[in-house]
Amino acid sequence: MTGTASTARPAEVTASDSPFPMALWSEAVCSRRAIPDTLASGAPAPGTTDPDQDPLPAGPRLPLAPPPLRLPPAPGSPAGLADPAVLAALLHYSYGLLQHDPTPGGRPLHRAVASARCRYPSELTLVTPEAAYRFDALHHQLVGLDGSSAARRPPAPGSSAFLVITSRFARTARLYGDYAPRLCAQEAGMLLGAVHLVAAALGLRARPGADLGTLLGLCADWLPGTGEHPMAYVELGSESRSVGGPATPRTDGPAWLPPDLASVLRARHSGAAIFDPDPVPAPAQLLPDLGAALADAPFDDFSCHLLVGRVTGTEPGHHVHNGGRTRLVYDGDPLPLLEQIGQTEGRVSVNFRATACTAYIAVRRGEAVAKYGADAFRRLHLTAGAVAHRICVVAARHGLCARVHNGYDAARAAHLLGLSPDEETVLFQVALGTARPSASFRVPVVF
Ligand SMILES: Cc1cc2nc3c(=O)[nH]c(=O)nc-3n(C[C@H](O)[C@H](O)[C@H](O)COP(=O)(O)O)c2cc1C
Repeated sequence: MTGTASTARPAEVTASDSPFPMALWSEAVCSRRAIPDTLASGAPAPGTTDPDQDPLPAGPRLPLAPPPLRLPPAPGSPAGLADPAVLAALLHYSYGLLQHDPTPGGRPLHRAVASARCRYPSELTLVTPEAAYRFDALHHQLVGLDGSSAARRPPAPGSSAFLVITSRFARTARLYGDYAPRLCAQEAGMLLGAVHLVAAALGLRARPGADLGTLLGLCADWLPGTGEHPMAYVELGSESRSVGGPATPRTDGPAWLPPDLASVLRARHSGAAIFDPDPVPAPAQLLPDLGAALADAPFDDFSCHLLVGRVTGTEPGHHVHNGGRTRLVYDGDPLPLLEQIGQTEGRVSVNFRATACTAYIAVRRGEAVAKYGADAFRRLHLTAGAVAHRICVVAARHGLCARVHNGYDAARAAHLLGLSPDEETVLFQVALGTARPSASFRVPVVF
């Protein structure tokens, strides 16, 4: 196995060979023109391939230990991947199968990270100097990928390791057509945030990375020739060099962690099909906790606009988090703003009259495109996605649902939120609210 950071290929990506053509900014972020009409009916997007052409990897299967019910498993428990419980917990609580919804007509399988219509295009691969192992979330197993004899054995204790995130766009494209790369990039960022958070809860040293040369080097020995795109990596347990610009890892500040992260993740929920929460105030601790979680995000090249409607002890208003601090921009009901921003094709995306708070995550697109060209799309979605996942986790901690919803107008958001014209772009809208009682329910999945 040679696919480590030290054998990285050059990081030059031109607009023509990037999986993220520059047109995606206009077709899938600034508008939603890339979404096919067939999405409304749930029918396959025109030109997409047969759903059966997505087989599970065929290599040797290695069962993982049962994931512990708490994170960390016990006070003072060992913090190394050599401990089978730690590896199992890291994979399970980052991207494992956590909930089953048996409601007829519902989406049955729910994993640790939200995914547009539960398509779960991301893949997590553990890469060590000896072998590469794919995480099979549905069976809670590792699958040896590279055919070497090492891949038939569990990861060697004490070896350095990377978790590599790749994405199979076709899974999402079956419904979303050319809009899929945008959703896949968003999810990859959320998954990067999830791995970083769970690793911190397990006491592991984790350094998220976006550097393309390192990423391609890590994938060199096992990535299929087509259909799977390298997105990001997290280095576990050893120092790595830092890389400037978007998706630059943050190194200072205290770690934000709920005391029982495992229960919080098992309760994470995106809400009912139509996001129409109970119009009740959220707990007062929501905003300080959001501030602390955002200040501890793995990257700091973002701003987060919080439009607060119903939070105990806080007047409605517009708050902005950047550079590790949250400040009030104006007092007043944000509803008119929300209903203008969160509207596409003449429809308002969620019931903002009942939400507790809605977050808009913005990045510096102009600067990043000038520096990284087509690859800016991937990098900026990693930053924003990691933040979005944290917001979902904070919501779950306070008993709320958090809905990532792409039904917003990016140009109107930039204007109404006071972003720098032609520079900053909103990549995520996340609405938070209290779930209404409903007939649907989810049962926990226990391996
Ligand atoms: C990147 C992304 C985009 C999404 N976009 C929408 C959207 O536009 N509209 C919507 O109703 N839900 C959207 N969702 C919510 C998902 O459909 C939801 O997360 C999924 O049903 C899984 O539910 P769970 O998170 O409760 O497991 C999005 C989720 C993600 C991760």
